[in-house]
Amino acid sequence: MNKEILDLPALQWYPGHMKRARDIITENLPLVDVVVELLDARAPISSANPMLAEILKGKLRVVVLNKADLADEKITREFVANFKAQNIKAIAIDAKEGRGVKETVKAIEILAKPYTEKWAKAGAKKRAARCMILGIPNVGKSTLINRLAGSAKAKTADKPGVTRNKQWIKIGANLELLDTPGILWPKFDDMRVGLNLAFIGTISDDVMDIEKIAALLAEKIREYKKEALRDRFKIEDGGLTGEEIMEVLGKKRGCLVKGGAVDTEKAARILINEFRSGKLGRFTLENI
Ligand code: G4P
Repeated sequence: MNKEILDLPALQWYPGHMKRARDIITENLPLVDVVVELLDARAPISSANPMLAEILKGKLRVVVLNKADLADEKITREFVANFKAQNIKAIAIDAKEGRGVKETVKAIEILAKPYTEKWAKAGAKKRAARCMILGIPNVGKSTLINRLAGSAKAKTADKPGVTRNKQWIKIGANLELLDTPGILWPKFDDMRVGLNLAFIGTISDDVMDIEKIAALLAEKIREYKKEALRDRFKIEDGGLTGEEIMEVLGKKRGCLVKGGAVDTEKAARILINEFRSGKLGRFTLENI
């Protein structure tokens, strides 16, 4: 697969952006006991930041596979088990509906315990565990923060000297969350990663050739879950190319321009939107 298929200017991240993103995280890291690395359950490898280990410098981390409602359950379980095998706590969640969120809070509190207890043992007032959320754009950071904050979004006041003007959201009695997440950049030297990120919507559709992306997505679906094309679009022929699938899909959905030709852009948007919203069923784009 060549780079021109996507023709993305480094997925819109430039060295200056990356440095700033990294600086913000580095500045906040000393304030927290645990970081929550948010990944997209549909692409847990592609949605990871390539330099996270280096940025975290050993800081404790909980991995959260978000949008698990859209991902293949079996593959998600395999990813969770794989993290466990590496001694990393991973939890599959649906931040939109709140599934798995309580478990996430608990996991953060448990991980942070040595720090909060050390504090108490030293005679200081017991303090809550502190954490921050990190993840690439669109992975669901704001959704999770809002979900954790709940309806009674309780922010603690700034505490000069302690929180350095940071806003903390109180979650129950034992946890505080930094209200601004750390934004990470994705890996972008690998076109397979770039494609997966295009499929899940990390990269804005405006900077992509959406028709090419849709044809490649159609091929991927045909390869891994062709029954989804049959069930959703009544496309039975398993031998079609991506472009051909898009033609048939366009006709079936009445995406036609004057003269009767298929409006391939409209067809592309239908496939991509329906894929992203789960209308083609649960789908994970990569395996361990
Ligand atoms: P970010 O801060 O990391 O950039 O992501 P954000 O929370 O803005 O979420 C990006 C999109 O992902 C939002 O959709 C959000 O609703 C959706 N989302 C977040 N978590 C989940 C999840 O667990 N499951 C599902 N299915 N979707 C999730 P949007 O289309 O941009 O907004 P909206 O139409 O949902 O309001």
